[in-house]
Amino acid sequence: MVEVLKTALGPLGLGHPVINASGTFDLLEADEVLRADLMAEFPFAAYVPKTVTMEPRAGNDPPRLFETAAGLLNSIGLANRGIEAFIDEDLPRLAALPVPLIASIAGERTDDYGRCALLLDECDRVDAVELNISCPNVELGGMALGCDPYKTRQATEYARESTSRFLIVKLTPNVTDITSLARAAVEGGADCISVINTVHGMALDPLRLKPALGHVTGGLSGPAIKPVALRAIYMISREVDVPVIGMGGATTAQDVLEFLAAGASVVAIGTASFRDPLLAARLAGELRVLMEQRGFGSVRELIGHAHKE
Ligand SMILES: Cc1cc2nc3c(=O)[nH]c(=O)nc-3n(C[C@H](O)[C@H](O)[C@H](O)COP(=O)(O)O)c2cc1C
Repeated sequence: MVEVLKTALGPLGLGHPVINASGTFDLLEADEVLRADLMAEFPFAAYVPKTVTMEPRAGNDPPRLFETAAGLLNSIGLANRGIEAFIDEDLPRLAALPVPLIASIAGERTDDYGRCALLLDECDRVDAVELNISCPNVELGGMALGCDPYKTRQATEYARESTSRFLIVKLTPNVTDITSLARAAVEGGADCISVINTVHGMALDPLRLKPALGHVTGGLSGPAIKPVALRAIYMISREVDVPVIGMGGATTAQDVLEFLAAGASVVAIGTASFRDPLLAARLAGELRVLMEQRGFGSVRELIGHAHKE
């Protein structure tokens, strides 16, 4: 990868600043479906698998996806096979992954985050842990927990006590004051904040005029939420002294450039890679051109540019 794009997230060395958003890119599945050797030509600079929980979860009733004018509504509800299957079955298959692996975990109670983090601490393949305290589609834990600064801090502390790995806390935008949650996570021991998870939303089936999603409400992602994400990145990176992973609607290299300038150290792509799973590699190449055009010699120089005099 080109020198100007090389960057780092804490102790993780990255070939470029574009990673995937949890739950939107299943490497093991994509490898089979696309019949491409994605492991060798991995498009993202780090891999974040879907969030896992202590126990397997079936997720919410279908339909779980609905496309809106400028974004996607989902109500998956953290469907996953549980952390044991992740550790015993998925991680061995990811041994040859050429980039850092960031495991994402969620719990129903704050101490679940400690239990999951402890199990992952035994896994050499795991380079960092992201606490998803921001899923809008589960009633227990997730949102309820991630909207409360006290519980945010507590969940982070439990995880911090259980792992020496680089610890990321992923926040929800569905709150009045997102910076107070970022502060609580950093006080609890977070090494990094990632924002944003999806924005609360709803759609009606146009013919039946009934809720389009089985779960009634869902989380909105994609281009519609970019301004919400940009604000969260800007405000949090000004407020706390840890790196920020920015995501929410980033679709083009210009979006990546703006998220970095707003204060993100790394940008995650979610919904946009449903259309093109290899998009991230192209965005990294285009980002290099945009940086050159604007005279940025390194990613470090670009990060937080919007804050500078
Ligand atoms: C279908 C779908 C599933 C998702 N699953 C997860 C998940 O398991 N864990 C998580 O932290 N975020 C999950 N997210 C949220 C994304 O990681 C990301 O924060 C959000 O979609 C905003 O980024 P985007 O607009 O680029 O998609 C999911 C999003 C979508 C669309």
